[in-house]
Amino acid sequence: MIRIRTPRLLAALLVAAAAACSPAPERAAVVPYLDPDAPLEERVEDALARMTLREKIDLIHAQSKFSSPGVPRLGIPELWATDGPHGIRPEVQWDEWDQAGWTNDSCVAFPALTCLAATWNPAMADLYGRSIGEEARYREKDILLGPGVNIYRTPLNGRNFEYMGEDPLLASRMVVPYVRGVQRNGVAACVKHYALNNEETFRHSIDVDVDDRALREIYLPAFHAAVTEGGAWSLMGGYNLYRGEHCCHNDRLLNEILKEEWGFDGAVISDWGGTHDTDEAIRNGLDLEFGSWTDGLAAGAANAYESYYLALPYLQKIERGEIGTDELDEKVRRVLRLTFRTAMNTRKPFGSFCSEEHYTAARRIGEEGIVLLRNEKQMLPLDLSVVRRIAVVGENAVKMMTVGGGSSSLKVEREISPLDGIRARTGDTATVVWARGYVGDTGGTYNGVVSGQELRDDRSAEALVAEAVAAARNADAVIFIGGLNKSENQDCEGTDRRSLALPYGQERLIGALADANPRLAVVLVSGNAVAMPWLDRTAAVVQAWYLGSEAGSALASVLFGDTNPSGKLPFTFPARLEDCSAHATDPHFPHDGPTRYRDGIFVGYRWLEREGIEPLFPFGHGLSYTTFVYGPVRADRPTLGERGTVRISVDVTNTGDRAGAEVVQLYIADRVSSLPRPVKELKDFEKVWLRPGETATVVFSVTASELSYYDDTQGRWVAEPGTFEALVGASSADIRGTVLFELR
Ligand code: BGC
Repeated sequence: MIRIRTPRLLAALLVAAAAACSPAPERAAVVPYLDPDAPLEERVEDALARMTLREKIDLIHAQSKFSSPGVPRLGIPELWATDGPHGIRPEVQWDEWDQAGWTNDSCVAFPALTCLAATWNPAMADLYGRSIGEEARYREKDILLGPGVNIYRTPLNGRNFEYMGEDPLLASRMVVPYVRGVQRNGVAACVKHYALNNEETFRHSIDVDVDDRALREIYLPAFHAAVTEGGAWSLMGGYNLYRGEHCCHNDRLLNEILKEEWGFDGAVISDWGGTHDTDEAIRNGLDLEFGSWTDGLAAGAANAYESYYLALPYLQKIERGEIGTDELDEKVRRVLRLTFRTAMNTRKPFGSFCSEEHYTAARRIGEEGIVLLRNEKQMLPLDLSVVRRIAVVGENAVKMMTVGGGSSSLKVEREISPLDGIRARTGDTATVVWARGYVGDTGGTYNGVVSGQELRDDRSAEALVAEAVAAARNADAVIFIGGLNKSENQDCEGTDRRSLALPYGQERLIGALADANPRLAVVLVSGNAVAMPWLDRTAAVVQAWYLGSEAGSALASVLFGDTNPSGKLPFTFPARLEDCSAHATDPHFPHDGPTRYRDGIFVGYRWLEREGIEPLFPFGHGLSYTTFVYGPVRADRPTLGERGTVRISVDVTNTGDRAGAEVVQLYIADRVSSLPRPVKELKDFEKVWLRPGETATVVFSVTASELSYYDDTQGRWVAEPGTFEALVGASSADIRGTVLFELR
């Protein structure tokens, strides 16, 4: 029976009735689930009612590495997923991770999400989301497996480069436009890895126990924002456990919080191999099972996907009468909703692939995310009227960084290395010599994608250092380009780093370069903080992340001053590992099994500030080639009520001689509180572009919600009346002015 709910549908029916003898296509238009004008829920119920039990079971699990089958009989198409989150992964074989061998799947690599977060510019997240969404759409993908918003809790986490830093507000602000931008293309964002997936070692067996306050204040806000503000259509469960249940089928996280409390109506997708139990998967909120490593699969059985937890084992339970079909129908509804929003969205754009617009987007995001950490005696930008001989040292000046690192690995159409970017920028105006300096990772393959670079070098460490030192001695400026890479135990999925130190003897090399030439700039290619015992010996330090296809051009643009750097750190650089909350509160971290997050809400700068520990570089830090002066910080009223707003404003002036952008940051401190609170917390920020001499007034609106904390004894957010302090500054440690106000 067709239920008529809307005048639109009624009109469609009348048209169809009038043309009763017309051929099939017109008649099909009145079938509610095929009618793009019918309300979504009506389409869902209509399709559900037409499906057999077997079709329902098939719909909720994979049929290949990256696809689920749809309902062929009803013309409901397959769903195709792809990694994510920095570009569109090359096609793999139906059942294997090996390459399918397509020749038209080389994509644009966008900068890693740490770099995006470092722009502190939601407009860049929108550009990123729209661009990668267009690439996904062109490649006919329905689900983009990203973005990742797990909180940066330890600098050893091998996957931090795929995430958006240590602060829940920054990650929330940046994830929303990314999700919306992707989904404008009729491609679902799949926000991952929900939740508490903060390390890679033991990622399948660590069982996190965290207090509710930290869960709500630190680990969930970015997911909450992605769902409630970004309107994410899908979400991926984490590999780890939370309170004894795997996150892919976790009653509290998925049923209670995500679906009931936040009203998420999309589909929960398992991480690949993250499903472990049929009963839990049925009851605890998993909707679509991908990537399970069942025995059938391992044995290469033809019907391997039948062995999935939500396949035959589920069907048999229903057939034996051990369980009803309510849960199944609910899962099917969610997958159908996802399908109507993506694969069956007949109005979506067609997307585009490897366009110059996408390269420009990648470059702009890279330029805006690069962070100038240190710049003594204005070593940077390099002035080509003075600097004629440049020594570039380091493996990362030439190494392709888009291959490796795990599931985010890409096959790119082009990747400009830092050395090529520098050479292209200097042209004939300077002599650029390169010396390797150290041998790090000579690999360069991932799942059959080969970088094609021959990086083997059998020279001794001494010989490599000697060559680099000789080049440095003869140069007007030395640019060392090192850091980490995408190989195991560096910035790489599945493993964590072993220490905070730079690997491969780079510390010694930097020391030798500094001895040879004090005009030394260190460029770090990494997604994580590193220790810098050599810091004082350098003239400049640049945090350059993984920048993707346009790495070299974006970096050269900053080094030579075409771009005035405006990135700010999305996480703290600690001086020592013991200064991080995860390690300070748990010397054996990371370990297998039950793991209590004893640091609670005191993660990142919240921890260092409470303990009075000086960071190497604070959260929010980043220099510019110009200078900004902040005027007094003002509040438009001394008090606000529960529903009121206080406006905090500050004038910021560019007092240098170059145009530039400043990220003005608002932190709030709660002077007296019933529960312990951080010294201060980021509550708002704005990036302003100023010409020399120009002033902008930045106004932040503060309401009671910015003042509240999560009271886990009451299970709700509470804003306690009292005195608060607004602190406005250029970083968490560079506060330029404060003002007090009261919450009545
Ligand atoms: C990763 C996910 C990824 C998936 C599919 C997993 O190993 O954790 O982030 O999306 O593989 O490649």
